[in-house]
Amino acid sequence: MKGIVLAGGSGSRLHPVTRAVSKQLLPVYDKPMIYYPISVLLLAGVRDILVISTPVDLPAFRRLLGDGGELGVRFDYAEQAAPNGLAEAFLIGADHVGDDTAALVLGDNIFHGQGFATVLQDQVARLEAEKGCVLFGYPVRDPGRYGVGEADETGRLLTIEEKPAAPRSNRAITGLYFYDNDVLDIARTLTPSARGELEITDVNQAYVARGDARLIDLGRGFAWLDTGTHESLIEASLYVQVLEHRQGVRFACLEEIALAKGWITPDQAFALGERQASSGYGAYVMDVARRAGAGARPDDSD
Ligand code: TTP
Repeated sequence: MKGIVLAGGSGSRLHPVTRAVSKQLLPVYDKPMIYYPISVLLLAGVRDILVISTPVDLPAFRRLLGDGGELGVRFDYAEQAAPNGLAEAFLIGADHVGDDTAALVLGDNIFHGQGFATVLQDQVARLEAEKGCVLFGYPVRDPGRYGVGEADETGRLLTIEEKPAAPRSNRAITGLYFYDNDVLDIARTLTPSARGELEITDVNQAYVARGDARLIDLGRGFAWLDTGTHESLIEASLYVQVLEHRQGVRFACLEEIALAKGWITPDQAFALGERQASSGYGAYVMDVARRAGAGARPDDSD
């Protein structure tokens, strides 16, 4: 499976904060926002990732993330000239996806919950065996603000409605989408909506019409956080801070995930922490690497 992180947009609800800085580079407590969606792809086992952003912001993402080699993954970069909609990711990213399945995650979406990695890996495996798409639903108080999915008891999506006045369920469709390779052809057939965008809802509708769109319910024990406004951004930071301090672990620590996956060695992880050792994040990476055996020589056990 190939991954795409869509990190463009205008961030207008965060102005003036985002007038000179991309929203997805803003901190969510201890790390840039884009770390969170990237961590979702890494947890799913996706190592080949295209980062799409605006022409002006793309160099900063490249500076932050590099080519991914240090994490044992690969990051490529592509421009979205204007915020022409989420589905444009599959026109811009067509060569990147090639003949593979694809995961799209929005650069400002934060997911957190126990067992998420297993859920993700199960769905990747399922999608590679079966056709269709997998969307992730989350119960919200105000579904009318979102795309809303209605599924049957087997999880097959029956309807998706964008910002419905009378929602058929309280399941908002989150910003994480898994598709079979047909998504590339479907994206090519789209026409811009009334607001001039290629809508991801139209892609999803095509799968609903085919009868092979599935909805995975993330459930109430899970967190799907918004970061699009000043209030939601600080709430997301506080959520991460409270849980990280309480539990002594960090979420979305890319080095820790790469180490756990066996993509880098403990010594490599330690070196990545060491070069940012004066931050709590860097110290944490060093600590995780040490516990995994960094610095141990074969004769240390004697
Ligand atoms: P939105 O939150 O819908 O838009 P935005 O980030 O531009 O913010 P605002 O509403 O405040 O103007 O976008 C969701 C995510 O998708 C976000 O990470 C930006 C990204 N995006 C793109 O990369 N390209 C696009 O064409 C659009 C519409 C969004």
